[in-house]
This record gives sequence, structure tokens and C-alpha cells, in this order.
Amino acid sequence: MNLADKINKQLPAELVNFLVTAGGMAQTCGDGLYLVGGVVRDLLLGRQNLDLDLVVEGDTKSLAEGLASFLSGKLIAHPRFGTAKLKWDGWSVDIATARTETYARPGALPSVKAGTLQSDLFRRDFTINAMAIELNAPRYGELIDRYGGLADLDGRLVRILHERSFVDDATRMWRAVRYEQRLGFKVEPRTLELLKQGIGMLDTISGDRIRHELERVLQEDFPEKALRRAAELGILAKTHPSLKGDKWLAERFARTREFTAPEAPSIALYVALLAYRLTPEEVERLLCYLRFPNTVTFILEDVANIKTELEILVERNLPPSGIYALLDDYRPTALQAVMLATDVPLARERIEEFLHKLRHVKPALTGADLAKMGISGGHIKETLNSLRNARLDGTIRSKEEEVRWVEENS
Ligand code: CTP
Repeated sequence: MNLADKINKQLPAELVNFLVTAGGMAQTCGDGLYLVGGVVRDLLLGRQNLDLDLVVEGDTKSLAEGLASFLSGKLIAHPRFGTAKLKWDGWSVDIATARTETYARPGALPSVKAGTLQSDLFRRDFTINAMAIELNAPRYGELIDRYGGLADLDGRLVRILHERSFVDDATRMWRAVRYEQRLGFKVEPRTLELLKQGIGMLDTISGDRIRHELERVLQEDFPEKALRRAAELGILAKTHPSLKGDKWLAERFARTREFTAPEAPSIALYVALLAYRLTPEEVERLLCYLRFPNTVTFILEDVANIKTELEILVERNLPPSGIYALLDDYRPTALQAVMLATDVPLARERIEEFLHKLRHVKPALTGADLAKMGISGGHIKETLNSLRNARLDGTIRSKEEEVRWVEENS
């Protein structure tokens, strides 16, 4: 099967030209050059994907350097891994030497050595991700499908390549549900059986690698689908036994997308919702294991603290200045998470009012104005706070009233 037409139709002209040029150059140098992985799968499915991964059988370094100089591009090489990223005119492709992987022990990162295209495809996660397209000039566009990827695309199946796949790398369990739910496929029955048998292998994976997979799930269009399936299969509970991928979460995620549209929600916001129903101790354990960046950690800690304030937040006679005092110390993303998660309408309304209105309220007088009026340095901040509170509660409405208030109260 030749996919040159699909390449022409689905990829932008710059990338098509690049592939043709690269194939010609590889042919001249005597190297084998292949387009591999997700982009091949997506070309066959007619899905947009501009992440080009190339595999070289031969001298990756000189081919990548030749391409970089031809395109006046930049090459970021990682000689230790035999990989390079080529960037030019806003485009970027990954180039790697064909390799064989062996796993010293389950869950460890693989040891890698140069190999053939066949071994490079065999080390991959699923048949649908283990196809290649030849780029060398004479056979440009030819599909290489050694493991039945095309048949599995037709049958809409996510299938591992060999029985030890999940033992070698249990992150593939997360990847399986991600592809299954993204593409509307099914995990193939034997693959599912091995996944269930091997669920304990997730304990061999570092928190960093699990976090990476979770972040990739949260970058999907509908992360709740993969989370529901991961919960059903016991994958999610391996990250933390109290995490749930249920209807509650699906509703909150949908609400969150409506709220942030047209932008997609941030990972931090999704994580805050996923962890919302955990106790503070459970959140601590999750954070310790997954080692999120500080931005996420602080937001989760804020959420835990805001939750303890909710009872006061819904007190009947709480004035706007009281809402402000309660919520002003917290990060907006944490407040958004609580607003989107809570079942209490008044709490939601008040957080929304704070985020959209109250937190932007400021007195008309500045610190410099107050200094000119004779307020001593030590009292300026306090006076500005009083003026802001009076503005919030509507007892002062104009600059003149502010001036009068300062004169009367200083
Ligand atoms: N891969 C793998 N096992 C992993 C991670 C990656 O076999 N644990 C392989 C897959 O063949 C995958 C390729 O490496 O297609 C690139 O990985 P990644 O960038 O994670 O996947 P993409 O296919 O590029 O992205 P996506 O599938 O999300 O579109």
C-alpha cells in the first residue's frame, strides 16, 4: 500500500517537501529513512497529526546535519540516545536511530542499542503504533506493517505486540486506555487479559513516569473517558486508591471545559478536580508520589484550605468585604477548581463573584495620594484596605467620599 497521496492531502506542503527531500538525501547517503509511530496511524485514520517521528537505519548524525544545513534549521542532538530534534521555520521533527530495547527489570527504563527498523517497530507499545512509511526515493510512501497494525485499525483494536509488553513497561496500561478512548477503539481481548493480570506491575513504575502518562491523559479532548476506563480496570487506583473516574468527575470536567473555552483547561485545573474529593492527607501522599511541579502542588494545597473555609463562605450575612478577606490569599486556579467542584450553589456564586468582580475592586486614592494627605507610611496599607472594603460593601462610591472618609478617620 502506498500512502504518498494521503501524505500530500493530510500534511502541510512544507512537511511534505521535507519528507521528499529527506528521503532523497537518505537514499544518496545509503541510509534507510522511515516515518514511524503515531503519525502513520493518524494518516491512515485521517486524523490531523503534525508530530513527525523519523527513524534512520544508518548514520543519523550526518543525515540530520545534512538536513539541518539544507533547511538552514537548528539541530538539537542527543548523541547518547541517538536522537535529534530538527527545527526550521516554526516546524519541528524528531529523528532517531533505529534501536532495540531490552529491559533489565520490569518498570526500569530500557537499555537501548542500535538496531534495525524491524526491531525498532517491535519495541513499540501497540500494533497500531508500530507501522512505518518508507521515505527513500524509490519506495517513497510504501507502508511497512509487520505486526498487523492496519488490520487492527480496521478492527478498531488496541493490541500489544508480545506477551511481556506490560511487564516490560506498565505505563502502556495507561497508554492503552488513552488510545482506546481517544479513538473509540477496544483493547483487544488477550491484551485486556494480560493487562488485568499484570496490573500489579504498575507498582514498578516511578511516580514521575506515571505523572507523565496522567498529564498526557489530561491533554486529551475528553480526559474523563480514559479516567473512567482506567478506574474500571484498576489502573487509576494504583496511582491512589481514593481516586475516582466516575460520573461526578465527568460532569466537573465537562463544566470546566465550558468555563475555560475556547482554551482547554490547564492540567493543574484538571488535577485539582481529580484530587478534589481526597482528604488533605491523601492529597499529600499523591503529591509526594507524583511530584508535580510547584505550580500544581500549591494549587492543590490551596484547594484543601479553601474547602475548610466553605462553611464560613456560605454564611448568610457575609458582606462582600468578608468574601474578599476569605478568598484573597488563594490562587485563581484553586478558586476556579472549588467553584467548579462544589455542589453548594451559594459557594459557587460567591467564588464567581470574587473572581469576576470583587478581586478587581480598588480604591481611587493611591498610596501616594494618602501620603500627600499626611497619612504616615505605617498606616497607608491599612487605610487602603479600609477604603477597598468600604468600596466593596458600597459604603463609599466615589473619590470624594474616599477623601472625606480619610479626613474623618485619620
Ligand atoms: N512508545 C512505546 N511505548 C511507550 C511510549 C512510546 O512504544 N511507553 C512508542 C509508540 O510507538 C509511539 C511512539 O513511541 O507511537 C512515540 O511515543 P509518543 O510520543 O508517546 O506517542 P505518539 O504516537 O507520538 O503520540 P500520540 O500517540 O499521543 O498521538
